[in-house]
Amino acid sequence: MATLPSHIANPALAEAGRSRIEWAEKDMPVLRLIRERFEKEKPLAGQRVTACLHVTTETANLLRTLVAGGAEVAICASNPLSTQDDVAAALVEFYNVQAYCIKGEDHETYYNHINQALDIMPTLTMDDGADTVGIIHQERKNLIDTIIGGTEETTTGVIRLKAMAKDGVLAYPIIAVNDADTKHLFDNRYGTGQSTLDGILRATNVLLAGKNVVVAGYGWCGRGVAMRAKGMGANVIVTEIDPTKAIEAVMDGFRVMTMEEAAPITDIFITVTGCKDVLDDRHFTKMKDGAIICNSGHFNVEINIPQLDALSSARREVRQYVEEFVVNGKKVYLLGDGRLINLASAEGHPASVMDMSFANQSLCAEFMVRNAANLPKDCISVPDAIDKEVARLKLAAMGISIDILTPEQDKYLNSWTEGT
Ligand code: NAD
Ligand code: ADE
Repeated sequence: MATLPSHIANPALAEAGRSRIEWAEKDMPVLRLIRERFEKEKPLAGQRVTACLHVTTETANLLRTLVAGGAEVAICASNPLSTQDDVAAALVEFYNVQAYCIKGEDHETYYNHINQALDIMPTLTMDDGADTVGIIHQERKNLIDTIIGGTEETTTGVIRLKAMAKDGVLAYPIIAVNDADTKHLFDNRYGTGQSTLDGILRATNVLLAGKNVVVAGYGWCGRGVAMRAKGMGANVIVTEIDPTKAIEAVMDGFRVMTMEEAAPITDIFITVTGCKDVLDDRHFTKMKDGAIICNSGHFNVEINIPQLDALSSARREVRQYVEEFVVNGKKVYLLGDGRLINLASAEGHPASVMDMSFANQSLCAEFMVRNAANLPKDCISVPDAIDKEVARLKLAAMGISIDILTPEQDKYLNSWTEGT
């Protein structure tokens, strides 16, 4: 048995976890190439990484890459409901990673686990939602001296880091992996598009065809969710607060209206905005009997659950991940506790899309080790060379070739004198 420090649900699940991690690996060719190079070059030798990520088979393959590069790694969950317990067990047993994460952990355990993962005194942090950065800057400032830099995986985390940098409090450089083209164009759009519907279907087994489905937020994730829900025959309604995004949704063929207008006619509500109170008592009271509500944005604040609870005369679990609330005699069904439904009741994005996100994470960790001393204490972009390299490797792995500019074309595209 493994002797690494850890706090996980069940070490006996390790073998099952390893088998699923290997299944995911076959769809992560770019990450595998990076891992093979890291094994030889050890670019992360001497580094200690605290990773606060969704503990999935795909994340396990990222952590294997960091360990191959020479890093000591501790993982905690970036959401109390997103841990796959068999993966956590395999990480400790077979992959030399300290793991502090249990699916369904309560609020106190969630934060205890982050603190335990931070006890390795990281030199690098890797966040999905900026929770470790928040704790380091508010409660564990003593850790800052040894940290050279970090990376951030998601839109909500990047928003927080930019707010910290604006307030002049961010104490070390952090790369916004989310903002790489090879991350958000694919992970947020196609990944969230597919896995959010997967989560809803696994939780409920409802038919989407013919249903009125609201997608709140037409950003990268919302576009993907709306596109896939339409593809399965739903009548999709989009709600937005940004006028340009609203026009885009209209021209993409969706109905756009306010949430208050949508509330009485909608069968399934999906929030994916990064904002709070997108669904609240203005809407719960107008919903039809049997309405389903869920969230795929990072935090569980998009649906105002305390208000829903206060409005309800009764509340009970009717099947796993489905809770029934009775509001004015009508039933409203909340999925997955309002937490990201694709990770709560399903497995998150498929490996082939996480391949690009986590290739960016690995290469950004290596970049940080080489360049941290020269980087500002700011939320910074993924270097374009890394973004393009990930795209090139992914295309090659897909067996797709693209054209190359001739010298004449290259010159033409860089000149202004040639016309008709
Ligand atoms: P984005 O910035 O591209 O899009 C968010 C959209 O929501 C914007 O168009 C914004 O105008 C709109 N919006 C904001 N407040 C709103 C409100 N009150 N009502 C309606 N629309 C509103 O962000 P994104 O990349 O699409 O990410 C959205 C959320 O999903 C973030 O919290 C992000 O961290 C999270 N995320 C989740 C997953 C997942 O696996 N479930 C994956 C990636 C990102
Ligand atoms: N975020 C969304 N899907 C994910 C996955 N499969 N692994 C890690 N983080 C994710």
